[in-house]
Amino acid sequence: MCGIVGYIGHQQAVPLIVDGLRRLEYRGYDSAGICVLGPDQQLKTLRAKGKLAQLEQQLAQQALPGTLAIGHTRWATHGKPSEDNAHPHRAGGFVVVHNGIIENYLVLKQQLSAHGHQFRSQTDSEIIAHLIEEAYKQSADFPAAVCQALKQLRGTYAIAVLCDQHPDLLIAARNGSPLVLGNGEGEFFLGSDIPAILSHTRDMIFLNDGEVALLRRAELQIVDLDGNRRPYQSKTITWSPLMAEKSGYRHFMLKEIHEQPRAIADTLAGRISENKAEIILNDIQLSTSCLTGIDRLYLIACGTSWHAALVGKFLIEKLARIPVEVDIASEFRYRDPLINSRCLTLVISQSGETADTLAALRQARTQGAPVLAICNVVESSIARESDGVIYTHAGPEIGVASTKAFTTQLIALVLFTLFLAQQRKTLADSQRQELIAALMSLPRLVEEVLQLDEAIEQTVRPYLHARDFLYLGRGNQYPIALEGALKLKEISYIHAEGYPAGEMKHGPIALIDEDLPVLVLAIKNATFAKVCANLEEVHARGGQIFIVSDCDCSDLRALAREYFIIPTTHDDLMPILTSIPLQLLAYHLAVLKGTDVDQPRNLAKSVTVE
Ligand code: F6R
Repeated sequence: MCGIVGYIGHQQAVPLIVDGLRRLEYRGYDSAGICVLGPDQQLKTLRAKGKLAQLEQQLAQQALPGTLAIGHTRWATHGKPSEDNAHPHRAGGFVVVHNGIIENYLVLKQQLSAHGHQFRSQTDSEIIAHLIEEAYKQSADFPAAVCQALKQLRGTYAIAVLCDQHPDLLIAARNGSPLVLGNGEGEFFLGSDIPAILSHTRDMIFLNDGEVALLRRAELQIVDLDGNRRPYQSKTITWSPLMAEKSGYRHFMLKEIHEQPRAIADTLAGRISENKAEIILNDIQLSTSCLTGIDRLYLIACGTSWHAALVGKFLIEKLARIPVEVDIASEFRYRDPLINSRCLTLVISQSGETADTLAALRQARTQGAPVLAICNVVESSIARESDGVIYTHAGPEIGVASTKAFTTQLIALVLFTLFLAQQRKTLADSQRQELIAALMSLPRLVEEVLQLDEAIEQTVRPYLHARDFLYLGRGNQYPIALEGALKLKEISYIHAEGYPAGEMKHGPIALIDEDLPVLVLAIKNATFAKVCANLEEVHARGGQIFIVSDCDCSDLRALAREYFIIPTTHDDLMPILTSIPLQLLAYHLAVLKGTDVDQPRNLAKSVTVE
């Protein structure tokens, strides 16, 4: 799980590569490196342990002129974070950057060692450079040597390769890891995702697995591993470069939290009929007979997206009346799931590249299930391998902690549920229209919730040294309690647990004392009275109660240390509103603690390893 970039053209490459790496740093920040082919036809490499800033310091001391270069930002898998293990890796005249995992690298390394190759790193990636060098000895043909090397690999890769004998050629290839090519004027860019190159071009080409791109300044050829030409099409990306900038916010995460009204409106756009009576999901590409013929749904995802799936179960079972199973992707494959062609699998993934989710998707397909994805990244692996996709139009999410992607996933789930209910006729028109009206007013309500930003910022200081937090919710608010706890854990490093409020008395109540902040989601719905009873139980044991509620009542006020009132809407949509104060709470606590909010330790935005 790393980021790669490349450039061939007429501009000085270093600033372009550094800019791309900065945008990819969310994918890993254990080390960074760059290699430039200089005017003297020498390949010059600089690498540094730690964040990109370390590499930039070195670059400030040493000019690296050249118009052909590759770069890498690393998230360590094989080999500790160190300069030796940083990419690019070199063997002879070949330099490689790699994102992915080579499963058979030990065997290949032994074979290469037997041929006299010496390795400088503990990475799996370094063997790729050596394999190319070895193959080149036989063919003296750079593209053929790359293909020959790639044929020997088992595992996943997106690579970019330079050769000092070929100053006009940048080679890239992918298998299971993302790679995007950008088409400029007499120049080409490549990156692990769209934002890495979006400020230079919107004209993009997405490689398929098993394809190799031969990038020359004025020409692009795509071939398969046998060297046969493959056709390709470019796509115009509609995201604006500004969407991938901080726009004056202190962190991407805060910007992305505040973008939610726009992201929700964009995700709804074009999916509600003009008379506001029906849902239009043209992109779903599954026939009505498929949707009406299914008798079970599997919702599969990881992390935050899994929390969205848990909310999805409430929606789908209640409104479309189909049994739903929710699975954590990394568990799904190993539990021998009872899945067949009458089980629709819905995978949810912001990045569309999460290895566990992709593996679960493939497993479901192998067992004959139709697969639908909710995804934020166009042409990502998950989007491409699914039968249909409902895109969330959140725009690029850069902060490692997911915010706008989550709320737009919930929107996509509501749209999908209503569409399913429409096809299966499980909901009265009036009920559907009531929900559609509520959906349409959500951007305004989210805007209102965001007004709490300052109040939340001002409340967090006394909790700076809290060791644990407990989040409680019932029904469709329980997944939000889980999500609130996850947000806090990942960016503030404070331990937090989400629990179903009614389950507290079966164990976690033992934790409650005057040092434990307990956040309770108290929504005025069928379980409100029960939640109030749970609140009393926490209060009686001295817990420091935070309440998030759509009900301003003096009884609750009397119990609460902190009380955040949010607007109300249809109960099925309340999870979208309640998740926002929890994002803000985690954000402000993390800022106060001084953690690296956008790039928390040990995490990466897109987890492309299983
Ligand atoms: C948490 C977070 C992760 C992701 C998870 C799945 O804030 O972002 O838990 O939700 O890694 O990622 P995607 O949705 O890209 O498959």
